[in-house]
Amino acid sequence: MSERLYFRQLLSGRDYAVGDPIATQMRNFAYLIGDRETGECVVVDPAYAASELLEIAQHDGLRLCGVLATHHHPDHVGGTMLGFTLRGVRELLEKTDVPVHVNTIELPWVASVTEIGASELTGHEHGDTVTVGAFDIELLHTPGHTPGSQCFLFDNRLIAGDTLFVDGCGRTDFPGGNSDDMFRSLRYLAGLPGDLVVYPGHWYSQEPSAALSSIRDQNYVMRPQTLQQWHMLMPS
Ligand SMILES: [Fe+2]
Repeated sequence: MSERLYFRQLLSGRDYAVGDPIATQMRNFAYLIGDRETGECVVVDPAYAASELLEIAQHDGLRLCGVLATHHHPDHVGGTMLGFTLRGVRELLEKTDVPVHVNTIELPWVASVTEIGASELTGHEHGDTVTVGAFDIELLHTPGHTPGSQCFLFDNRLIAGDTLFVDGCGRTDFPGGNSDDMFRSLRYLAGLPGDLVVYPGHWYSQEPSAALSSIRDQNYVMRPQTLQQWHMLMPS
């Protein structure tokens, strides 16, 4: 099956949106996940140069059949940040009419930031799957960075958005963030079975991805085992 899987990790400002100062500064990862046999693929977190991401998929012989959004921040779905407007998912929807998969709790936040009508977004619960050809992508609700943050699990890979980085985790001091929820989400991710490789939402570490087993050992946010220990590490 692994040769059927099409998977690309793309760094903003290097692999796409080259020359865009925000894309370069933010070091976001977008991902393409597809089935080479059926030719379908989805894109994760298209915030910059959405048409370029579409072209990359098309160049590789795949057609886009959906968007997966980890959370509502403009550097993941588009919107206004640092005085710039990122067209993100909206630009993508102008080029191709595909479903945008978000966690139900995040749906109003994504609608507000992107100015895409809530009725145009597809809400999901924890444990739902999005099918891309022969592959099922499981949507895991991992609140903390935002209320409806979600991670994507498929083929022993975990796309972790801003919930878990190779080093550290996402901030919890933005609107809707919750430090205790983040602790519980990190414990949940730490307990996922299998030999997973974690692909984060930003490149903030030496390596762009890492085995969950090594993140469990090396990443300081994985050390606290109780909420009390978490509070000592992350005082509010
Ligand atoms: Fe974020």
